[in-house]
Formats: sequence, C-alpha cells, structure tokens
Amino acid sequence: MCVNYWRRQSTALLGHTGAMGHPGPVAVDDLSMLELFDGVSGVGRLAGLLEVRELVAGAEVVRKGDASTSFALVGMGTIEIFDTDGTVLAVAERGSIVGELGIASGRPRRATAVAASPTVLYVGGRDAFEEMLALPGLRRRLQRIAAARLAMAAPEVPATLRDGSDVYLRPLLASDKLAYTNQLRRWSAESLRRRFFSAAAPSADLIDYLVEIDYVDHFAWVVVDRVRPDVGLGLARYVRSAGDPRRAEVAFGVDEESRGRGVATMLLGALAAAADCAGIATFTAEMLADNDAMRAVLGKADARFHAVDGSSVSAELEVEAACALLPAHLGDDLAAAANDVVSAAGIALVVPHPRAT
Ligand SMILES: CC(C)(COP(=O)(O)OP(=O)(O)OC[C@H]1O[C@@H](n2cnc3c(N)ncnc32)[C@H](O)[C@@H]1OP(=O)(O)O)[C@@H](O)C(=O)NCCC(=O)NCCS
Repeated sequence: MCVNYWRRQSTALLGHTGAMGHPGPVAVDDLSMLELFDGVSGVGRLAGLLEVRELVAGAEVVRKGDASTSFALVGMGTIEIFDTDGTVLAVAERGSIVGELGIASGRPRRATAVAASPTVLYVGGRDAFEEMLALPGLRRRLQRIAAARLAMAAPEVPATLRDGSDVYLRPLLASDKLAYTNQLRRWSAESLRRRFFSAAAPSADLIDYLVEIDYVDHFAWVVVDRVRPDVGLGLARYVRSAGDPRRAEVAFGVDEESRGRGVATMLLGALAAAADCAGIATFTAEMLADNDAMRAVLGKADARFHAVDGSSVSAELEVEAACALLPAHLGDDLAAAANDVVSAAGIALVVPHPRAT
C-alpha cells in the first residue's frame, strides 16, 4: 500500500521537528512497557526528553540523505523502511527504534522510513539519545540492534582466491544459521575434533552462540562463492577477551572441499582488518598440537606458539602482522565494510586506537 508513497511527501517528521503530527509528553508507563526497556528502571528523565507524535498512514518519518538530528521509538503502529528503488528493506513495529544509526554516527539518514499504518512515535533528539545510552544495560541493547542492522546492510566485499576463484566476504548473519549447521553436519569427525576439540557435533546451544553474534565483541566473516553466494566456503571469528579488550581469540573453519586454496589465510587478514577498527591489537588462538594447517596459517602472520599441554598449543600474533596478509586495497575495502558494524555506528564504547591517542 505504501510503496513509493513517501515520494509524495515534502517533509520528514524526524528531519523537521514540529512540522507534522501532534506533539505531546510521553507517559513514563507507556515508555516502560516497550520491550527495549524490560527490566530497566529510571526511565522518567528519558520520558521527559521525548515527545509523542501521532502519524497518519503514509507520513514520512525519515528521508534518505537528510541530516540525522533525532530518533524515534515506535509506541504503536508500523513503519516501513524503503530502499531507493521503493522496495521495503525492513519493517519496524511497536518497541522498535528508528533513526538511531544516524544520530549515533552523525551521518545523514541511510534510508527513507514511512508510517505504514496510523502510528504513535516517541521522538527525541541527541539529549534523549545520550540519556537512553546511560540507562543500565541500554547501551548494550542498542549496540546489538544497531550492529545487527549494519551487518545486514554491509556491502559484500569482492576478493579473489589464489587459484583465481572469485569470492565475496561479508559478516556472518543470524540468517546463516541453517547453512552453517548443515555445513558442520557435512564435516568429518576429524574436522570437528580440530575445530571444537571433540568429534561430537556441536550442540544447538553452541550453534546459537556461534551464529547470534553481537559484532562488537564477537565478530565473524564468511567467504562465499561469488557465482553461488549461497555456498559458504569458510568462516572465521574473533571473540574479544573479557579481561583485556585489546585482545581477542580467533577460530576458523573452512569447508573440507575448499581447503588449501588460501581461504583461511584470507579470513585471517579479514579478521585483522575488522579487529583493527574495533581497537583489538593482538589475536590469540588455541589449537590441537597436530593441527599443522592451522599452525601454517597463523605462522604466516608470525604467530608465536606455546605448548599448553601435551595435546594443544596456544598462539599469539599481532593484528598488524595479519593485516599485511591482504593486498592493501582488499584490507581497505574490508575495513570500510566492517567499521560501522564493529563500532555499532559509534554506540559501542570502542577502545581507543593507539594511533588515535
Ligand atoms: C585449518 C584450516 C582452517 C585451514 O584452512 P585453509 O583454507 O585450508 O587454509 P589456507 O589454504 O589458507 O592455508 C593452509 C596452509 O596450511 C598448509 N597445510 C595444510 N595442511 C598442512 C599440513 N598437514 N602440514 C603443514 N602445512 C599444511 C597449506 O599448505 C597452506 O599453506 P600455504 O598457503 O603456504 O600453501 C582448515 O584446514 C580447517 O577448517 N580445519 C578444520 C577446523 C580447524 O582446524 N580449525 C582451527 C581451529 S581454530
């Protein structure tokens, strides 16, 4: 019903506060009932910084390219987010937040959003956004929402393996879960043993943990075939250390048919490009002592190895050395694709980069 309706509007609500709708105060109870604030106390001050706006179906909420000066929480109704060609990219319903990426990053609106039904919004500016980030647990929740949205929108980065095959690298998405599960089902007991230190198939809980990542402390790239992007060739992740935010542990898995083509080496460089944006300086890894292929890959970035016990070894290497594994243009493209995702558009408290301090 609303496709392209926004083109007829002349003013976006969040671009020009006061131009549309009927402003009014937000009741603390209405705000507390939104899922985003589940278990969060002390929203009174935030409520005081927000304004209720009632929109008719078809009213424009934000317009692509406009300056980002405010955000909105959906109190009632549905908002559709449009691509430039008029297709619906996403739908935001009661409890969703709209416009937070722009206000967090200070960049212009990335897409146009239109009320698809009579809609009630709680609209705030930068002061309300800062207040929301200061509420206990809210920064983390908003960070997850923003990072997941940005990961979905991140461009696929084209690259070429050393055998000349064309591939794409992109962040792992929650929607990859089925493909990832099926890939692990095809793995031999030996591959599972090397990756998970056990020949048993990973549990459903472990797969959830491996796929439902937050992108800020736990980030993963996948490599897919460029001709058949539904075919995943390999995946690698880093998980930031809880004790030291400048260190992260890496892990790799390459499909059995795709090994020896440089997929893991490319993934190590790609992880480094993202980690550098996330303020991580050192990678660590743990592997079985007989995992010569993994040792060979990490060795290319001058990893230092230490025996943990008779059966496993740990490795430590500098992110900078792993960045050097990629051609400069590919490293730059990957960093550009990952930067907003790993910082959740600036919502995450990213560790200051030594070069910036
Ligand atoms: C380890 C793994 C990720 C490597 O993936 P890959 O895409 O084949 O790696 P690459 O092709 O980038 O590089 C592999 C390197 O190891 C070398 N290698 C492979 N088998 C080897 C062996 N048995 N001994 C010594 N070197 C070996 C290859 O020659 C290659 O080096 P090169 O590029 O100088 O030729 C992959 O084998 C895998 O998924 N294994 C199962 C899971 C696992 O072990 N994960 C690691 C635990 S975190």
